[in-house]
Amino acid sequence: MPLGRTVKVRKGFTILQAARSAGVAIPTRCGGNASCFMCKVQVKENLGLMEMQNNEKLKLAGLEGTDTRLACQAKIVGPVIVELPPDPLRAAIARQIQLQKEQDTLW
Ligand code: FES
Repeated sequence: MPLGRTVKVRKGFTILQAARSAGVAIPTRCGGNASCFMCKVQVKENLGLMEMQNNEKLKLAGLEGTDTRLACQAKIVGPVIVELPPDPLRAAIARQIQLQKEQDTLW
């Protein structure tokens, strides 16, 4: 989500590997070492993600209960639906366009 892509992967693949298999880019800076925090995804349906390991728990401290996972660390063992956050640049442009529309309607 939100692209609606589906991919079948082997058990033990990470969400990041699965996304790449589906041709979906998830930004990373650390090469999948749980240190850049850029690969956060929202788990929408979890019928098959392994429990978090300590390094992921430490990185996501404070986000417990939000269904946030690090795509580079979360391993898949069954069906999972995840939502990728909007690209920061596109989100900023969308906010500017919306703001401009609101200002245009005032005049
Ligand atoms: S790729 Fe850097 S934390 Fe996941």
